[in-house]
Amino acid sequence: MALSAEQLAALRCDYSLAPLRRADLDGDPVVQFNRWLEQAHVAEVIEPNAMVLSTVDGEGQPWSRTVLLKVCDERGFTFFTNYGSAKGRQMGGNVRVALTFWWGALERQVNVTGTVEKTSVEESAAYFQTRPRKSQLGAWASAQSAVVEGRDVLERQFAEAEERFGEGAVPLPEHWGGFRVRAQTVEFWQGRRSRLHDRLRYVRTAGGWEVGRLSP
Ligand SMILES: Cc1cc2nc3c(=O)[nH]c(=O)nc-3n(C[C@H](O)[C@H](O)[C@H](O)COP(=O)(O)O)c2cc1C
Repeated sequence: MALSAEQLAALRCDYSLAPLRRADLDGDPVVQFNRWLEQAHVAEVIEPNAMVLSTVDGEGQPWSRTVLLKVCDERGFTFFTNYGSAKGRQMGGNVRVALTFWWGALERQVNVTGTVEKTSVEESAAYFQTRPRKSQLGAWASAQSAVVEGRDVLERQFAEAEERFGEGAVPLPEHWGGFRVRAQTVEFWQGRRSRLHDRLRYVRTAGGWEVGRLSP
């Protein structure tokens, strides 16, 4: 069964949970973001740290996919991935990216634009060591984004990684690590009635951040 065209066209919510006023915002978008992230966690949003990462390839084609935010501090928004993946190669050629968080239960969205840089090997290794062993082995087993013949190939590669490392520690692969997004803009969006949503955007300036309201 599929939704009818009428059902699909009729799907909508009128947002009414809360307003977002300029006075509610912290002067620092990182503090504001971490406040909203914590509220999404308390509201039991599934994977509140999931964010859509958009990158641009050499032909100007944008690509998007979800990754998990692992650190958000004054340096930026950090996630971890395979450097040889499609996104890893795209960011190698074009450092401009965008991030989107959608917290439906709170009727909130956050949009970030900025530029990426790799985290240090020490930072990547420190995070890699906190991952479950099977995820560490998965990072060795999967040439992320490459076409594979079938699931059995992946499972064989995983078994080979298990055999290779035995009971010992699984080291950080050279092809795996973090990227940190240094924000240029951060927009906080709160759904409101009649589509008159609140949109407040921080723009980085030489001396700090300027905040402006955008039309919904
Ligand atoms: C909720 C969720 C979280 C994910 N987190 C990550 C992540 O942190 N790092 C990652 O490399 N892929 C993550 N993925 C998988 C990516 O969405 C994507 O399939 C993969 O990174 C390959 O992307 P690419 O081929 O565009 O490089 C996640 C997927 C979902 C649905």
